Amino acid sequence: MIKVLIFLVWPSTLMSAVRNILVTSALPYANAPLHLGHILEYTQTDIWTRFQKLRGNNCYYVCADDAHGTAIMLKADEQKISPEEHIKKMQASHEADFSDFLINVDHYHSTHTDENKTLVNLIYKRLVDRGYITQRAVVQSYDSKKKIFLADRYIKGQCPRCKALDQYGDNCESCGATYQATELINPISVLSGTTPINKESLHYFFKLSEFTDYLKSWTSDRHLQTEVSNKLREWLNDGLKDWDISRDAPYFGFKIPDTLDKYFYVWLDAPIGYMASFKALCKKHDINFDAFWSPESTAELYHFIGKDIVNFHALFWPAILKSTGFRTPTEIAVHGFVTINGFKMSKSRGTFINARSYLEHLNPEYLRYYYASKLSRSIDDVDLNLDDFVQKVNSDLVGKVVNIASRCAKFITHGNAGVLSAKIHNAKLLEKVSGVSDKIASLYENRDFSGAVRLIMAQADSINEYIAESEPWKLNKDPRNKQEVQEICSLGINLFRILMIYLKPILPKTAKASEIFLNDELNWSGITEPLKNHHIETFSPMLKRIDKKSINSMLASNSVDSNETSTTEIKAVVNLKAVEEVNIEEFQKMDLRIAKIIKAETVQGSDKLLKLTLNIGTEKRQVFSGIKSAYRPEQLEGRLTLMIANIAPRKMRFGTSHGMVLAASSETGIYLLEPDIGASPGQRVT
Ligand code: 2FM
Ligand code: ZN
Repeated sequence: MIKVLIFLVWPSTLMSAVRNILVTSALPYANAPLHLGHILEYTQTDIWTRFQKLRGNNCYYVCADDAHGTAIMLKADEQKISPEEHIKKMQASHEADFSDFLINVDHYHSTHTDENKTLVNLIYKRLVDRGYITQRAVVQSYDSKKKIFLADRYIKGQCPRCKALDQYGDNCESCGATYQATELINPISVLSGTTPINKESLHYFFKLSEFTDYLKSWTSDRHLQTEVSNKLREWLNDGLKDWDISRDAPYFGFKIPDTLDKYFYVWLDAPIGYMASFKALCKKHDINFDAFWSPESTAELYHFIGKDIVNFHALFWPAILKSTGFRTPTEIAVHGFVTINGFKMSKSRGTFINARSYLEHLNPEYLRYYYASKLSRSIDDVDLNLDDFVQKVNSDLVGKVVNIASRCAKFITHGNAGVLSAKIHNAKLLEKVSGVSDKIASLYENRDFSGAVRLIMAQADSINEYIAESEPWKLNKDPRNKQEVQEICSLGINLFRILMIYLKPILPKTAKASEIFLNDELNWSGITEPLKNHHIETFSPMLKRIDKKSINSMLASNSVDSNETSTTEIKAVVNLKAVEEVNIEEFQKMDLRIAKIIKAETVQGSDKLLKLTLNIGTEKRQVFSGIKSAYRPEQLEGRLTLMIANIAPRKMRFGTSHGMVLAASSETGIYLLEPDIGASPGQRVT
């Protein structure tokens, strides 16, 4: 009863007491470098944990590499190295990215470690002893050449529903159907190109179905965002199946005790990796592990994850913890995916940006700030719109925040030997800016970073207005105003200091540089204690504007680095970036029309051009178009397309081209644009 009461009144009454908090981010797979999607989550987790530490809470952030599974084993095979060697290299790359993005983990571990093995075996033993493990035979696709059972992503074939070719073993990208790999028409193993056979083997299952009622209650008990618990309710109402926690050899992972060739499925040992990483931290710093993991623990436990792995964290994981005598998470903090200029980030489609490519061209704090300005409790996707990114960082951080210090510091350094005045020039303004600290703290606490950023920037606006209205540079022309100039600029510096305390979780490096400039450590308690008669150092800008060219270089280098199957979309983004902005008046000068292709002919002597005769409503036009590689003339006749009718006629070797038809193009091909059904020749496109 007491526990329930405490939970109901948290957090306001307990806000002042020091909280013990353990935080994790999802463990990245040790099979690929990190990309900007990963960085969203680590930034979100890092900001939250830095905020907790800034508030004086006892907060630990742990992470690790997720080192097991078939994909990692095959990746090592491909490179002709051992899985151990491969995961070591990957971990080093991940840790370097963490560090360079200023992600301040207290410990970074691996799931392929003794700590994890011991915990996995302990948990499995408890599951067996308590009757939560059952065994049964399962029929699966098997590659007899490679002698390996095939997970769905290693089987391709024809969709049983729409007959699309080259579809994976679980769902069709063309029609969206989901099915069993065994239903694919003409399946082949991606690993050997042979036809898989069906083969039976014994699997071990965790009796998840017995936890349906427990999970119905757990998932609706404030451990999840509402959107997430609503989604889970749908699954739970359909009933839970037992969970297959075993995989057959060959597999890179931990062997299941008392078996010859069965391994724990990577998703069983991965979340246990959270505990293992913390265990290693406890050993390093003499922390009491049980105080955080026993069912009686009063510490808080938060897992930050993406929305694609909710079932593992909000169903399987609490059930495993509950059934084996450990505490369950306080909250699972779920975020959406990253899109770039509206494009989905997808490894298979080559539309992701590597963390390293970003770091080679841009300051990590730019992205930390931009992500913070977009993150909330919502699980909607976060779009990294590159124009907006440049605009927001330059205008908010450089134009508003750093600018305050830059405008005021010189008057203190030159006019008062670097010493801030004792008097507060405008107490009301100081009160206003420091008065929002509780609100900002509660926005951070609730992971509404975008709300916090908005409120902080509103303060920056008020401060800039105050400086603009006070015009210290004008007052300074008359020596009689010296004191007032000092007071105005001292307040400006003090207000800058408060902004930097607010922003410290998001911009740790700029905060550090500000601490050096201010000659003061930035703490939350300092918000209400302005610096008076205090010596500051000479100002030098702690953050520079983003140069747009760096964005283009990053995109270009990333698309060259990435040897994924398709880099089309990222190239499209690069092309878009190179194009200059036009205003609406300029755009309206174009006579864009619907045109009907009446005739299409090859052009003697040209291997690129087709000669098109177009009906554009008012007249017929002849246009030469470089689309021969994509279309045969007979495919085009009778089709509608879009054209620019008022482009200046161009004399060519083959005749005059009077207009231009519109097509999308990239290295994968040329695609003529077509209007929607119902459009007719001659209509203006507006
Ligand atoms: O989805 C992933 O990238 C997994 N490697 C996350 C694991 S999180 C945890 F459970 F370990
Ligand atoms: Zn299909």
